[in-house]
Amino acid sequence: MSRKQKKQSPPSPPAEPEPAPAAISVAGPALLSSGEAEPVATRGVAVPVLLIALLGALLYWGDIYLMANSGGFDPQVYAPFASTNELASFKITGAEDPMAEGAKVYAFICVQCHQDHGKGNPAMFIPPLAGSDWVLEKGPGRIIRIVSKGMAGPVTVSGQQFSGGAMFAAGDQLPGDEEAKAKQVAAVLTYIRNSWGNKADPVTVEQVKKVREKIKDHAEPWTEPELKAVSPDD
Ligand code: HEC
Repeated sequence: MSRKQKKQSPPSPPAEPEPAPAAISVAGPALLSSGEAEPVATRGVAVPVLLIALLGALLYWGDIYLMANSGGFDPQVYAPFASTNELASFKITGAEDPMAEGAKVYAFICVQCHQDHGKGNPAMFIPPLAGSDWVLEKGPGRIIRIVSKGMAGPVTVSGQQFSGGAMFAAGDQLPGDEEAKAKQVAAVLTYIRNSWGNKADPVTVEQVKKVREKIKDHAEPWTEPELKAVSPDD
């Protein structure tokens, strides 16, 4: 109806109803009824919709990516750990497989010096555990002492001298109470005695507790002569 009226008024050059159908198809009937269909304005609508959809998809993907890689945005969680649960799994409590427990303790604290391959890092004065005559000694008395309180000064490992490095009291610094520490020390010693081709008896929690009780007031890292003065069975 409005169309007809516009056509009848002769001096109306802006009356261009022809593009209106294009506008209708995109913008809907509201524009038509108002009689102000502006096809130029409606054309632009389709592109932002696509862009917004694309941005939405990117945001969605980004969110999924972050969720998968951020450890739940927990400030305590850093790579390579994925969650607080994974972190908590290092606090060993239950009666697990000592080798699995030991592997966790090793990865948590020892690996930074003695390395994945157990060969240590001679350039940094770090002796090997793989094939080490200390590690493979029948009695675990000395290695319980070393891992509990650390070691410093020159040391000969499987015939090779190392001096200049020092090991801190890794065992004392493990998380948990005395019972938990003893368990972790026993597990990690069992682990290093049976990895990289090493083969020796497992170390029990009882053995570790007995030795740790004897050395609980020993504040300094052990030296080789001090350790040689005690029996590995004691
Ligand atoms: C900060 C580096 C560092 C860390 C961490 C460390 N060690 Fe050591 N470790 C050393 C150094 C250095 C020596 C030699 C000390 C010396 O020169 O007197 C050594 C010596 C040893 C020895 C006796 C020598 C040998 O090679 O057999 C054993 C056993 C041992 N470490 C086991 C462990 C275990 C198990 C852990 C983890 C609970 C551990 N170490 C964590 C640096 C480290």
